[in-house]
Amino acid sequence: MLEGKNIVLGICGSIAAYKSATLVRLLVKAGANVQVVMTPDATNFITPLTLSTLSKKPVYHEYFEAETGQWNNHVELGLWANLIIIAPASANTIAKMAGGLCDNLLTAVYLSAKCPVYFAPAMDLDMWKHDTTMHNVSQLQTFGNILIPPGSGELASGLQGEGRMAEPEEIVAFVSADIKKKLPLVNKKALVTAGPTYEAIDPVRFIGNHSSGKMGFAIADTLAALGADVTLISGPSSQKSKQRSVKRVDVTSAAEMLEQCRQYFTQTDICVMSAAVADYTPVTIAQQKIKKQDAGLSIDLKKTTDILKELGSVKRDNQLLVGFALETNDEEANAIEKLKKKNLDFIVLNSLNDEGAGFKGDTNKITLIDSQLQKTVFGLKSKDEVARDICLKITELVAL
Ligand code: CTP
Repeated sequence: MLEGKNIVLGICGSIAAYKSATLVRLLVKAGANVQVVMTPDATNFITPLTLSTLSKKPVYHEYFEAETGQWNNHVELGLWANLIIIAPASANTIAKMAGGLCDNLLTAVYLSAKCPVYFAPAMDLDMWKHDTTMHNVSQLQTFGNILIPPGSGELASGLQGEGRMAEPEEIVAFVSADIKKKLPLVNKKALVTAGPTYEAIDPVRFIGNHSSGKMGFAIADTLAALGADVTLISGPSSQKSKQRSVKRVDVTSAAEMLEQCRQYFTQTDICVMSAAVADYTPVTIAQQKIKKQDAGLSIDLKKTTDILKELGSVKRDNQLLVGFALETNDEEANAIEKLKKKNLDFIVLNSLNDEGAGFKGDTNKITLIDSQLQKTVFGLKSKDEVARDICLKITELVAL
């Protein structure tokens, strides 16, 4: 959930700041870009050097850094952030946030930001239970900020009670779960196929195609970023998923792809078949390398199973099935025929007559045609952007 997210980690003056080193490490490990912003008092509890080493970025704690002569622009930082986590959040900073005071860089970044803000209080139990703190915390929640509740236990003062900052692992789990539960495809299982298939002729040769797998990988990443639990069945491809949660199943041939699709499809809510599956496969695979002869060589081919058509024939009403059509002529008519024949919810048409479209490059140009024959034409875009357009349509249909 945190891959690629820009996170401002705000650290206040509290003994719990010693846990911030672990928190930075966990956020970085989860794939986030972490910018640490400390209140001036926080630097008494943990050094900026520790945190900048772990976050691999300079740490900011003043508007103006005397050593470097650098002006830290709070507005830019606030807008850069996809989310802010303030941990530990001291009673003092909570009060300032509730009252709109901005006498340090962290509170100024908070006021400049438009993203979700999580705060994990850390303080002594009496400070935590004080009416003023309780009032400020609920005020912050009214503003839409999200409380990561403190735990109970032994406090730095030696007293026992509520006020301990949540553990770094709990903070990461809390934020990840909170992001996930707000995503449109949460609790949906998605199956995506990608890449070419290779049909063996002999131990060293195969029949394949130019599919790179980029489109399918981009779709799998986008569905995962929208909260779906994604399984990606990929033919031979050098692509890598950006989203760590994507479960990858590698296959080589059309028959192997069919077997895996059969296995996963019944538990699937959303299936996108973007693989360029071979339509024909050799009748027999030579056990030895076929030797060159003076005469030509013919290879007998048999049809493979049309995986998408088979899935369409067993599809339940609550399953969404999306296919691709790569065409060179009579594009729309051919795509509509495939849409109907394979019982799809919509089809993604790309034409090799459009420059930059198809399965080799980094761009694509698509037309979506749904089962009501509603047509949406898109311009030439990067495959990541095309994946977003396709997944937006999926999200709309899932919400119906
Ligand atoms: N497809 C499939 N299994 C096959 C062949 C194709 O699941 N054996 C799927 C592709 O993943 C794609 C859709 O069917 O989503 C259309 O593929 P395409 O190659 O455009 O069309 P075909 O149905 O194979 O027809 P033709 O090659 O004759 O255009």
